[in-house]
Amino acid sequence: VAVRAGKFDEELMKTAKTIASPGRGIMAMDESNATCGKRLDSIGVENNEDNRRAYRELLVSAPGLGEYISGAILFEETLYQTCSNGQKMSDMLTAQGIVPGIKVDKGLAPLANSNGEQWCMGLDGLDKRCAEYYKAGARFAKWRSVVSIPNGPSTIAVRECAYGLARYAAISQNAGLVPIIEPEVLLDGDQTIERCLEVSEAVWAETFKYMADNKVLFEGILLKPAMVTPGAECPTRASPQQVAHATLTLLKRRVPPAVPGIHFLSGGQSELEATLNLQEMNRQPNPWHVSFSYARALQNSVLKTWQGKQENVEAAQKALLQRAKANSDAQKGVYDP
Ligand code: 13P
Repeated sequence: VAVRAGKFDEELMKTAKTIASPGRGIMAMDESNATCGKRLDSIGVENNEDNRRAYRELLVSAPGLGEYISGAILFEETLYQTCSNGQKMSDMLTAQGIVPGIKVDKGLAPLANSNGEQWCMGLDGLDKRCAEYYKAGARFAKWRSVVSIPNGPSTIAVRECAYGLARYAAISQNAGLVPIIEPEVLLDGDQTIERCLEVSEAVWAETFKYMADNKVLFEGILLKPAMVTPGAECPTRASPQQVAHATLTLLKRRVPPAVPGIHFLSGGQSELEATLNLQEMNRQPNPWHVSFSYARALQNSVLKTWQGKQENVEAAQKALLQRAKANSDAQKGVYDP
C-alpha cells in the first residue's frame, strides 16, 4: 500500500481556502511566451521580454486588485521577474493579499494513435521544479490538459488527460503547492450542450478516480473546469440559465464537497458572457466556492485600453478592476449588469 507524504497537508488546505475566499477569484496571467505574443500582436505590440514585463507589471500593480483577486497564475518568466521599481512581481502580488501561483505543465503535444488529439507534457523533473517554485514564493500550481469533443474523444486521450492531472496533483502537493486541476473540454465543435455534459462527466469521473488512486488530498486542490456549453459552432445557443443548470448538474454528479473551490476558465467566452454565466451559478445554493480563473475574460478590455502605451496604464488598470469587480459580484451572486 502506497503512503502519502502528507508533510504539507495543513498548509495546502489553508492555501486552498485562502484562494477560495468569498467574493474573490483567480487572475490567469500565465500565457506562455507564444500565447502572450498572440495577445500582444492583437494590439500591435512586439513580443519581447520588456513588453511582456511591462504588461504583466500593469496587471500585478493595479491598485486595489486584492479585494477581488485571491490568486494569480504566473508563467515561469514572470515568477522570477522584477517590476520597474525593483520589486519582484510575486512580492507585489503578496503585498496585495494575492497568492502567487505557477503554470507547471510544458504544453501540449500530438498523442500517437489517437484521433488527432493532444496530451500534456511536463511530469519529468516536476518534483524538482515544484521545489524551486515553492522557494521562489509560489504556493499553487496549474496544469492544463485538453479534451476535444469533435475528435472523439478517444479512450486513450481521456485516460492520458486524467492520469497526467492526477500524477501532477500528487507531485505538487508533496512540494507544498496546491494543484489546480484543469482538464479543459474545448469549446471547438458543433456539439450540443447535452454532449458536452456527457463528455465532461466521463472526464471528471476518470480524473477523480486517478486522483484517489494517487492519494491526492481533495481538501488541498482547486478545480478549473470549462463550463458546460454548446460547442462554438453549434447552431442552438444556450442561455446563462441553461449553462448554469448543465454545469451545476456536472458538479453535483462528479465533485465531492471536500473540494474547496471551483474556478472556471473562460475558454473564449466574451467578458460579459463569462460574468453572466458565473452569476447564474451563484444564484442558487451549492456546496462549493464557485468562482473564476479567467485569462481572456479578465484581460481583453485591458489589452485594448493599454495599446502598449505608458500613458494608458492607469486606464487599463481601471478596466481590469472593473472586470475583476464584476466577476467578484458574480461570485457572490449580486452582479447587476
Ligand atoms: P481563458 O480564461 O482565457 O480560457 O484562460 C484560462 C486559462 O488559464 C486556460 O488555461
